[in-house]
Formats: sequence, C-alpha cells, structure tokens
Amino acid sequence: MVLTLLGAGTIGAVGGLIVLRGGFYDLSAITQHYALVYTVLGEGMQYSVQNHAREIVVPPNLNTPERLQRGALVYQANCVQCHGGPGVAPNTIGMSMQPAPGPLVDADVNWKTRELYWITRNGIKMSGMPAWEYHLSEPDMWAVVAFVGAMPGMTSQDFKRMTAGGAVPPHVEQTATGRAQQGQEGQP
Ligand code: HEC
Repeated sequence: MVLTLLGAGTIGAVGGLIVLRGGFYDLSAITQHYALVYTVLGEGMQYSVQNHAREIVVPPNLNTPERLQRGALVYQANCVQCHGGPGVAPNTIGMSMQPAPGPLVDADVNWKTRELYWITRNGIKMSGMPAWEYHLSEPDMWAVVAFVGAMPGMTSQDFKRMTAGGAVPPHVEQTATGRAQQGQEGQP
C-alpha cells in the first residue's frame, strides 16, 4: 500500500516535472487551462479567499441607497471595463484575458460579502484581478462591494440611471465645524 502510494506519487511528480521543464504547458491567454488545472486553481482560490476573509467585519446596513449609488459609480469607473455590468459588455482588454473576468452576476452566490471585499481589496494573483487597496478609499471599496452584491437584481436601466452622473464625486468630509462639506475637485 505504502509502496503503491509512493510509486504513484513519484510517477505523478516526474510527469509534472516533464510537463513543466519541457515547456509543454500552454500559458497563452488564448487557450483555456486544462480542466484539472482549472478545477485545482478554482478550488484553491475559493478556500484561500474563505480563509483570509474570515475576520473581516462587514459594516452594518451595508446596502443603503447612498452607498449603492456611489458603488455604481465606482464600479462604472473601475470594474466595468473588465467585468462588464448590467447591459454593458466588458471592453476588449477584459475580453482578451484568461481567466476571463466573469460578469459577476453570480458573485453574490459564490462569495460572502466579506469575501467580495477581500477580493476587491487584495486582488487575485496571476489572474489579472487588480488589488484596489491603494486605489480606492475604504468607503469606496465597501460601496463597490455593496453594489456588486446587489447587481444581480439590477436591470440595464437601473445601471444606466445610477451611472448617469458620470465621475465619482469626491467624499463628503466633516469639517472642523462639524458641517459636512464636499471635497475640492469636481462638484457632483
Ligand atoms: C484588469 C481587469 C480587471 C478589473 C479592472 C477588475 N477585475 Fe475583478 N477580476 C479580474 C479577473 C481576471 C478575475 C479572475 C477571474 C477568475 O479567476 O474567474 C477577477 C475576479 C473578480 C472577482 C471574483 C469573481 C469570481 O466569482 O470568480 C470579483 C468579486 C471581482 N473581480 C471584483 C472586481 C471589482 C469590484 C472591480 C472594480 C473595483 C474589479 N473586479 C476590477 C479582472 C479585473
């Protein structure tokens, strides 16, 4: 039994080495991964994200209308080019990637809210999914996560209406006097 396992392990390792060192594995973004590689990578990602996201605390009342509205604009500005949106196809870069960035229509089924946040914040190695930690503020990461979670229920008209404003308005900041004031550039 032990010998059989060892033998199988050795053959597997040698086989893997031949595929690796022989340069046989096709890394082009035109072909899909082998089914086995795809499954291993997919499952690995699922477990890795679940594990890393387990201590993230989701803000209460995540899905306020204001947050969803802001999330739509953040999504339009940063995500739509790769993932597409309700009634919007991804652009040519998004469509030429492998793995193809999914349309995120089932993202809320596959991932818990805290996991969507982890993916958005940290990105995914070797997939082309960027880490947004240094590009989006904390509130904007949660806004876009709220929006992604709510996206399956949205029509293309909803998305059009929510993104009609165009650019993402600057954050509303508390001033010394405690009054809310808009940031400097680009009034909404
Ligand atoms: C440059 C292209 C690109 C941009 C821009 C981009 N993504 Fe991604 N994203 C990817 C790729 C590639 C994957 C991995 C797809 C896979 O492995 O199935 C991915 C995966 C994801 C996933 C996991 C999807 C799943 O179920 O497998 C989520 C959630 C996600 N992105 C959210 C976002 C959000 C939110 C934004 C905007 C803030 C964004 N992405 C911007 C390329 C992109």
